[in-house]
Amino acid sequence: MPNIALLGCGGFIGSHFLDAFLADPDVRVEGWDWTPAKIMGHLGRPNFRFHPGNIYGQADLEERLSGCDVVVSLAAICNPSQYNTKALDVIDSNFIQARLIADACARLGKWLIQFSTSEVYGQTLAHWATADGQGNGDPALYEMDEEETPLLLGPVASQRWSYACAKQLLERWIYALHKEKGLDFTIVRPFNFLGPRMDFLPGREGEGLPRVLACFTSALLDRKPLPLVDGGSARRTFLAVEEAVEALRLMIAKPAMARNRIFNLGNPANETTIRGLAELMRRTAAEITGDPGYHDLPLTDVSALEFYGEGYADSDRRMPRIDKALNLLDWRPSMGLPEILRRTLEDAFRTHGPVRL
Ligand code: NAD
Ligand code: UGA
Repeated sequence: MPNIALLGCGGFIGSHFLDAFLADPDVRVEGWDWTPAKIMGHLGRPNFRFHPGNIYGQADLEERLSGCDVVVSLAAICNPSQYNTKALDVIDSNFIQARLIADACARLGKWLIQFSTSEVYGQTLAHWATADGQGNGDPALYEMDEEETPLLLGPVASQRWSYACAKQLLERWIYALHKEKGLDFTIVRPFNFLGPRMDFLPGREGEGLPRVLACFTSALLDRKPLPLVDGGSARRTFLAVEEAVEALRLMIAKPAMARNRIFNLGNPANETTIRGLAELMRRTAAEITGDPGYHDLPLTDVSALEFYGEGYADSDRRMPRIDKALNLLDWRPSMGLPEILRRTLEDAFRTHGPVRL
């Protein structure tokens, strides 16, 4: 196994990457993040070197990257509550800063695995082109394919799309570096990974508005209503973060299959509305604690304007085609959403819950 540079190693995906990769003594990882709060258990490992602080402020960054065989770039602001409220920071993080890593990889001749997002697809063809917004059930109007599907972002004043637009430009920049400067790249488009250590629980681990998993987990722990933005009718497919990391392991193990390609990573079998997610999380909390009271927590409707502020828009649906990952990497996601949520909520309740599991 090669030496790996991991930018954003202290975040949700990064922490799971370290769990999976550092167990192999033949792997060496150089990791960068602001803080090591989520990865304290890995700091003493002989095959891991951690560089705290701002990635872009480190004088020896390029020298360190040059000692690695592959650069995995996760570092980004990727929290929807900031896309319309801190769009300058979001564009800076997801394009202007991220491109510095791509440029360095092109200069150094390093393979870059860049995490992009399912959000680059924007809203579905069904949303834009059919009266019911559902495409009359025609998969060609809502499935998202790496090579075929157009990228349909909303108007500029819908600042929600600042993140998707910056990631899309980063993808195009990397592709151009490949064509004109010979950069070897892999672009990963994640479709809503789930698992322990995602974001922060407001009031317990940080302040602000995290992604939906942490919002609902926090509400369950506090026995408060679960807020459904615009009725919770948006749909998502969810993938276990451990299975996403396995796909990454396969990419690194099979460079000839992974290089110079774009991959969707998601689990089409795990689709639900956000209302369905809230109901399942209530049910799961009741099951793991043995307390039926969780079934009765209310689901309250809140408008997007009230919840996120002006300029928020939503992705209506995200249904990945994953044939490429199946065929080229021989990767098969199999964990169902109930099992993913059981593992994730057990972890949260074990750490923070009123009930000791
Ligand atoms: P995360 O916020 O948990 O992790 C990102 C990490 O990068 C954080 O720990 C943050 O501190 C670090 N970071 C950002 N800028 C930095 C800087 N300048 N200096 C040092 N550290 C910095 O996010 P995540 O969920 O692990 O996502 C990782 C990547 O995957 C992101 O690029 C995101 O856009 C992409 N992605 C994730 C998902 C998902 O389901 N989790 C979905 C789509 C895309
Ligand atoms: C996320 C983020 O943009 C990125 O982390 C990532 O790039 C992207 O998914 C992806 O997988 O590609 P989104 O799924 O919209 O986008 O983020 P969440 O905050 O998890 O919201 C999911 C849905 O739940 C949205 O419809 C949102 O309005 C809703 N929501 C959120 C609620 O109904 N209640 C809440 O308390 C929070």
